[in-house]
Amino acid sequence: QRTFDLVIAANRLPVDAVTGADGKITWRRSPGGLVTAMESVMHGREGAWVGWAGEPGKAPRAFTQNSMHLRPVRLDQDDVVDYYEGQSNDCLWPIYHDAIVPAKFRRRWRTAYERVNTRFAEQVAKVAAPGATVWVHDYQLQLVPALLRKLRSDVRIGWFNHIPFPPVELFMQMPGREGILEGLLGADFLGFQRKPDAANFLRACRGLLDVTVRGDVVHLPDGRSVRASAVPISVDYNGLRELAGDPAVQQRAAEIREQLGDPKHILLGVDRLDYTKGLRHRLKAYGELLQSGDLDPSETVFVQVATPSRERLAAYRELRGQVELEVGRINGEHSPIGSTALTYLHRSFPRTEMVALFAAADVLIVTPLRDGMNLVAKEYVACHADDGAIVLSEFTGAADELSRAYLCNPHDIDKLKQTILQAMHDPPGEHRRRMRSMRRTVMTNDVQHWAEDFLTNLQAAPHKPKGHR
Ligand code: G6P
Repeated sequence: QRTFDLVIAANRLPVDAVTGADGKITWRRSPGGLVTAMESVMHGREGAWVGWAGEPGKAPRAFTQNSMHLRPVRLDQDDVVDYYEGQSNDCLWPIYHDAIVPAKFRRRWRTAYERVNTRFAEQVAKVAAPGATVWVHDYQLQLVPALLRKLRSDVRIGWFNHIPFPPVELFMQMPGREGILEGLLGADFLGFQRKPDAANFLRACRGLLDVTVRGDVVHLPDGRSVRASAVPISVDYNGLRELAGDPAVQQRAAEIREQLGDPKHILLGVDRLDYTKGLRHRLKAYGELLQSGDLDPSETVFVQVATPSRERLAAYRELRGQVELEVGRINGEHSPIGSTALTYLHRSFPRTEMVALFAAADVLIVTPLRDGMNLVAKEYVACHADDGAIVLSEFTGAADELSRAYLCNPHDIDKLKQTILQAMHDPPGEHRRRMRSMRRTVMTNDVQHWAEDFLTNLQAAPHKPKGHR
């Protein structure tokens, strides 16, 4: 079979297969920030993407889409339950996000995680050309670097973590924690969203393994060394900018405003329905602002897009119940007859519709309790020229770069309320200054810049131990 000089390995392919009743497959864009970013990076590069097509059972055949060569990996029903839902999203995800909900530990899940990571490594080994560059993504595939190195010592391996890396005190709780670090150290270069994430990883190595850490480099007993540093991810600034300027999208934005009753203020939230996103905190703040009369529902509307996510997991089902109860309560108590104070959309939308929504919104509200980056904030920046504002949680990676957002601690509901009001009522000149500064940041540090930065770091990494040829 055909081999490639660049191979991406991520749990998900950029598209999900949906098998209809007639057995025919249709393809739908996968959710989440990883796909948003990598899709634009891979556009125009001849590379293979190894990943799961989103349904249990036999993998669809290899195919090509937008010059991306997709190589589906099979996940059986028990892989989905134990590797994807269990180990990845009921253990690693909560531990890596400050244990906002308690993590669960199951031995069966760890076995499945090893089994599926092995399958990914084998698949990558098959499609990588001699000396290829292999870019592994995210917390679902932390064992792949070392497993792949055993199969193919000729390839260059990088890994990027799209989510935070936890403080060592939390990381230590995980059974088999050393195995994860050893798995990652099979790479030549490790990229993290923020400096504190890389520092957490290095601290964990120092504390739990027999290695030497100097600066941002881990020196292994076999003579190899691995660098771990921050390479913050971004968005396709030019693509979004262009789309936002498209007259059809502009018109759709005007239409959205009209459909919402031409309110004075449109507040917008866009998130996967995930407990890390601080949805309940933001609804609490909004509800209280309506209650106190600080916000008038005939002047202000809040639109919350909550993309369905990981719906079989209890923590996500519970969150959905809580959010929908609160949405009902807020609308029941405050919506004027004939309009809604809070428009709640539990589904996903095509990209053009999202860009129109971003363009229509006066204030974007981003309140995660913990988030590796939060690309939604950067997308909003790219869609606005001189107006608009962002209320942004300090606990996102994006807050490091978007320091001119209205930063907030979402746990502090009173402050969050004040921050929302300030973002709404600051004069246009202030909005302009802030947005311009944020736009410069996103424009210079766009997703192409990120990918080049990562790949340059990977190429510069010493591939063979000192003394080896
Ligand atoms: C985050 C993760 C991705 C993941 C996405 C959607 O962005 O970093 O790895 O793909 O969420 O979650 P899901 O479980 O549906 O793949």
